[in-house]
Amino acid sequence: MNTAQAQLGAVLAAGGPELTRLLERTEARLGEVAEGHGEELARHSGATLSAGGKRLRPMLVFLCANGDGDGRLVAAGAAVELLHMATLVHDDVLDRAPLRRGRATVFAEGGRLPATATGDLLFSRAFAELASTGSPDAVRALSEASSALARGELMQRADAWQPDVTRERYLERCRLKTASLFAASCRLGALFGGRPAMADALGRFGECVGLAFQMLDDVLDVSGPQERTGKPRGTDLRDGTVTLPLILARERDPTLVELDPRLTAADAESVCDRIAATGALETAREQALTHVAEAKRSLAQLDLPAQRREALELVADGVVERYA
Ligand code: IPE
Ligand code: IPE
Ligand code: MG
Ligand code: MG
Repeated sequence: MNTAQAQLGAVLAAGGPELTRLLERTEARLGEVAEGHGEELARHSGATLSAGGKRLRPMLVFLCANGDGDGRLVAAGAAVELLHMATLVHDDVLDRAPLRRGRATVFAEGGRLPATATGDLLFSRAFAELASTGSPDAVRALSEASSALARGELMQRADAWQPDVTRERYLERCRLKTASLFAASCRLGALFGGRPAMADALGRFGECVGLAFQMLDDVLDVSGPQERTGKPRGTDLRDGTVTLPLILARERDPTLVELDPRLTAADAESVCDRIAATGALETAREQALTHVAEAKRSLAQLDLPAQRREALELVADGVVERYA
């Protein structure tokens, strides 16, 4: 277990030995997929894969499945994690991010070109992994999430530096950029784990959890601390990304309306403090909690074994109780 996963210890305990075994098999698979594509891509993708992510999306695949399934479940777990990593590597190019998971990003280490190529490799491996299951429905589900993600990232760029981004637009971005992959992970688990009739409800659960997850990520960007999040505070502010804490803070403190592209790291920290002083972080967190509650409501209608329900509820609660 890596440090980030330790925060999810309660989920791992509730998921039992079956969940741990599936995650171990996924880890082994992730270690193999980047091989055979040249030294440079192997190095960058290997560093990305081994940097200690939480593996939250594979966890959702497995927790939405019934039993430990066949190899297709592990292929799906590896596929969603590969897609996630591909998007992170590309996201760090778009956001010009220096650090991720406490380490230099591929962008910072190698520049735009190697980072773009590494993301492309991880994208292609994600789909190859899922194609091995022989399920066009599964490939379609991942493709939908990946197209949504691309739209969400572009929408975020279009909103950059804008003084009047609405909460509705922000939520739509979160739905596209983050919740779509959480939803697809849950759907794939239902599909390969013998619960196809639950795919829609579990997908809805995943979408709500994903929304709350991104909202909290945006709170953490302002609150830090860096030692716990693995990313400097105020990265979003410095690249013009307008997120819920800033949207709420602007309503309360009009001096925060204009973002300055020349912000230094120290300036960004002080803007973070001013945002926090408005109480916007607490409000954003409360709003994230409403999506957690909705996620739990979509589970309530389902006939799931008690331990599985508990593990999924712990994931939902955990996304707003985290630092990384
Ligand atoms: C980070 O996702 C990107 C967002 C969607 C906010 P995670 O926090 O799941 O990333 P890792 O894989 O655990 O580092
Ligand atoms: C999440 O967006 C990344 C994707 C969903 C691709 P962020 O830009 O908020 O993620 P971090 O903060 O870089 O992890
Ligand atoms: Mg980013
Ligand atoms: Mg962020």
